[in-house]
Amino acid sequence: MTFSEIRQQFHQRFGGSPDRVVQAPGRVNLIGGHTDYNDGFVLPVAIDKHVTIAASRRSDRRVVLYASDFDQTCEFPLDAILQNDGEPTWSDYPKGVAHFLMQANQPVTGMNAVIRGNVPIASGLGSSAAIEVASAFAFLSLARGLSSHSQGSDLAMDEFNSNSATFIEAGLELKLATLCQRAENEFVGVNCGIMDQAISILGKADHALVLDCRSLNYERVPLKLGDFRIMVCDTKVKRELVSSEYNKRRAECEKGVEILRQWLPAISALRDVSLDDFKKYEASLPSLTQKRCRYVIEENDRVLRAVKALKEGELRTFGSLMNASHIGLRNDYQVSCKELDTMVEIALANDSVIGVRMTGAGFGGCTVNLVHQNAVDNLTNQIMTEYPQKTGIVPEIYVCKPSDGAAIVFNSNEAA
Ligand code: GLA
Repeated sequence: MTFSEIRQQFHQRFGGSPDRVVQAPGRVNLIGGHTDYNDGFVLPVAIDKHVTIAASRRSDRRVVLYASDFDQTCEFPLDAILQNDGEPTWSDYPKGVAHFLMQANQPVTGMNAVIRGNVPIASGLGSSAAIEVASAFAFLSLARGLSSHSQGSDLAMDEFNSNSATFIEAGLELKLATLCQRAENEFVGVNCGIMDQAISILGKADHALVLDCRSLNYERVPLKLGDFRIMVCDTKVKRELVSSEYNKRRAECEKGVEILRQWLPAISALRDVSLDDFKKYEASLPSLTQKRCRYVIEENDRVLRAVKALKEGELRTFGSLMNASHIGLRNDYQVSCKELDTMVEIALANDSVIGVRMTGAGFGGCTVNLVHQNAVDNLTNQIMTEYPQKTGIVPEIYVCKPSDGAAIVFNSNEAA
C-alpha cells in the first residue's frame, strides 16, 4: 500500500489531508511459541506488513474511523466508550487503546482516521497488535500537537519527534506495549501475552528481538542470515478454536505450576522450572498437564539456545531448534493442525530448508521457514502445487523482510 493511496482515501472520506500518518508492523515469531504468558522468552521479528492509519484531530471528542479494507465506518464518543459484547470487531482495538490511554492520563483528542493494512488477519502474524499499536501511535501523536506532557501520567511521552520511533521515551516502549496488551485482554477479551505488541513497537530492520517476558528486558539480535531467507507460508486455515484452546493451554500451565510448587516452592511460572527439576517431579502431574508443561519448559530452553546459535552464526543449529519446536507444539502442546503439519512436511522434504515451525497461536495460520535464497522459487512452486493437492486449499507465501517497529511516517507540522 502506498502512502499516497491512504492520503487520497483520507481526502475522499474527510476532505483535506491528514495531520499524521502512522504505521505499525505485524510480526513473525522465529521461536518461543506460547512462552510469553509463562514468563518465558520469545524471539520475534517485525515484518514488512503493516497497519497504517492516516489521522487528523477533530475539535470535538468524537472518533470517526473508516476501515477501507472492509468499507466500514465506526464512530464513538471518547467519553462514553462502550465495550462490544459480541465477537470482537476491528473497531474494538482502537476503542480499547483509547480507553486505556485515557485511563493512563494521556491526552487523547477526537480524531478522523482512515485505517488500512496488509497484515493478513487471523493468520498468526500479529495483526491485532499492529492495529493496537498503530492506534496508540495515532492518538498519541495527534495529542502531542496539543500538549507534550500530561500531568500525573505514568506514560509520559517524549517531545514529539516525527519520522522516528524515538518519540516514545526510551524505556517507555514496553509500557505502551503493556497498555495495548491490556486493551486486547480486558477490552477485546483475548487473553494474549506481551510478545506481539512488544515487537510491533521495538522491531528493528535486520534484527530479531529476544524478550524476557517477565522482566521485559530485551536485546535486538542482528539477524545474520547470510544466504537464508525468512519465508512465511499461510495455510489459509482461519484459527477457529483459537481463543478457547488458548485459554485452556494457559490454564494447564498454571495448574502445572501449582502442583510443582509442592516440590519447588519458589516457582511462580513455568519459566522458573529447570529441565532437570521437571524430570524429577513430572510424574506428579496429570498426563495432559505434564505434556503441556514439558513443551513450555523445553521451548524456553530452546529459545536461549537459538539466541546463542544466532549470535554465533550457527544457522543450522538455529534451524534444528525450530524443527524441534514444531514437534513439541504438535505432540505435547497440541496447537498445530493437519494443514500446518502438511505445510511443515512439504518444507522439510526440501534440502534447502534448514528450519520450519508453526508460528503464532496455532490451529491454522502460518509456518515460518528458514530457506536458502536460491531455493525460494523452487520451494514456492512445490508448496503451491503439493499443499492444494493434499488439503484442497490454496496457500499464500510471503518472503519477509525483517523490519522496523512502529513509526510516524508523516507529520503535517514538519511537512515542507
Ligand atoms: C498469540 C498471542 C501471543 C503468543 C502467541 C503464541 O499470537 O497473541 O501473545 O502467546 O499467540 O506464541
